[in-house]
Amino acid sequence: MTMSQNTIKIYQAPLQGATDFDFRKALAESFGGIDKYFIPYLSYGKGREIKKSQLREVFPENNGSLPVVPQVLFSDQAELFDLVTILIDYGYKEINLNLGCPYPMATNKGRGAAWLEKPEALNEILQQLYSKSFPVKFSVKMRTGMTNDQDAQAIFAILNQFPLEELIFHPRTASQMYDGKANPQLFAEAISQVNHPFVYNGDILSVADLQNLKTILPDQNSWMIGRGLLINPALAAQLKGEIFEPKALRKKMKEFHDQLLEAYSARLIGSGHILMKMNQFWSYFSQSFENPHKAMKLVKKSSNLLKYNAAVVEIFRSF
Ligand SMILES: Cc1cc2nc3c(=O)[nH]c(=O)nc-3n(C[C@H](O)[C@H](O)[C@H](O)COP(=O)(O)O)c2cc1C
Repeated sequence: MTMSQNTIKIYQAPLQGATDFDFRKALAESFGGIDKYFIPYLSYGKGREIKKSQLREVFPENNGSLPVVPQVLFSDQAELFDLVTILIDYGYKEINLNLGCPYPMATNKGRGAAWLEKPEALNEILQQLYSKSFPVKFSVKMRTGMTNDQDAQAIFAILNQFPLEELIFHPRTASQMYDGKANPQLFAEAISQVNHPFVYNGDILSVADLQNLKTILPDQNSWMIGRGLLINPALAAQLKGEIFEPKALRKKMKEFHDQLLEAYSARLIGSGHILMKMNQFWSYFSQSFENPHKAMKLVKKSSNLLKYNAAVVEIFRSF
């Protein structure tokens, strides 16, 4: 292991619906290598109600001793203060502010990436937030802009005025959603404009991807990974220098899968729900197999748990 591998930090990105507390737990117990686990956002839905599925993600008893950071998605001061207060009551010491969610359902209500086009309003709400002296640190996760890469400049200037814990930057616009590639050049250009600890996020799917990024960002040490960890839960450990023999890795992957299935089976009612959850998991996980399409097809056509278990054995044996 080289020095740089030892000192890198890997954060697990939040993916609403996918990186839930059972996933975090299985990941931590099977492979580890994660320095912080970011919980998918907490937000107000219709009638100012928070969905149960979002609340149970932040329940302390569901996260044990894992280093988790909750996130809030908000459109105004009332929402932000309410959500922050709930999280402080649960005992959290760090809260991430979502300034990047690209989905129109969020941005149409002024949430997520919509903030990137409102630097003055952002300045105001952060002034109000910090003037309350909440007993908690704040970090930010953002994209480059709504439709324009250059939105970020004005946002960085605002964020620099506040004592953020760190700033996670995903160099894509909201309008790009998840298409094409994140642009590390935009991250490189931003480094001199940001006076906070700066974390790279986007498209790290392999050890080679990180090596390529290192040639563009030689001094960068903190990385956040979303889909890459859903596809390959061993990735963080591998990026930190751990070597797995192919056969041993397969076995650990199977154990990881089994732990996740067991957790969902204990929590969800009805095989339909369990299968739906596992289908969603396999939409990423299948990509770590040589033949993702065949693997996914087998999972999809499993109409009950018995067939599903047989499909999984077949996939691990043959694909
Ligand atoms: C299905 C899905 C759900 C997501 N949910 C969230 C979320 O709740 N909060 C957030 O900040 N980002 C969310 N993201 C964005 C990811 O955290 C991450 O920034 C993005 O996937 C890019 O990183 P990656 O290329 O490593 O996956 C979501 C992405 C996807 C695909």
